[in-house]
Amino acid sequence: LAVVVLISGSGSNLQALIDQSLHGAIDVEIKAVISNKSDAYGLERAKSAGIPAHALSHKDFDSRDSFDNALQSLIDQYNPELVVLAGFMRILTEDFTRHYEGRMLNIHPSLLPKFKGLDTHKRAIEANEKEHGVSVHFVSAELDAGAVILQAKTNIEANDTPETLANKVHALEHKIYPLSVHWFAQKRLTFDNGKAFLDNKA
Ligand code: GRF
Repeated sequence: LAVVVLISGSGSNLQALIDQSLHGAIDVEIKAVISNKSDAYGLERAKSAGIPAHALSHKDFDSRDSFDNALQSLIDQYNPELVVLAGFMRILTEDFTRHYEGRMLNIHPSLLPKFKGLDTHKRAIEANEKEHGVSVHFVSAELDAGAVILQAKTNIEANDTPETLANKVHALEHKIYPLSVHWFAQKRLTFDNGKAFLDNKA
């Protein structure tokens, strides 16, 4: 499966995808990594793995539309079958999300539909939640609102801080994101009419 990964930061989820694809554990070929921040550490991870790495700064564009158009052109040069958002911290235009409908995934650090948006670990603790976690979903125009594919949970303990919770959630992310991409590659995960379908038989 030809994939393009979009990042803005550390890229630990990108690394999990790289590691599992190199080991042949998932049937994925990462064609390119694109960051909207030139100093994102994930770009170094891509280069170390021999993957084309691009920085495309949103600050070089005068509107969200013009940035998204340039991003779309760059992505489509690689003809990906799937676009993977891995810590890509930009709101996307409706046109962009429509163009990749059913073939763009995101990972969000909460048990959606709870805690869309930012600071999810802090907000989960403040809301006295007993459990927290992470969701993989198809991307739709509305932020963090597309069809959920897979979730993983962890308990919130009394001594958890946003940092300890983030670490626990990251460990879960590195398992369920490569797995979701693998399922998509195997065509066990499909998208139809705004909904995600998972064939669990295999
Ligand atoms: C993850 O927590 C992910 O859920 C969120 O952004 C973070 C990215 O982390 N969307 P990393 O760059 O993959 O380490």
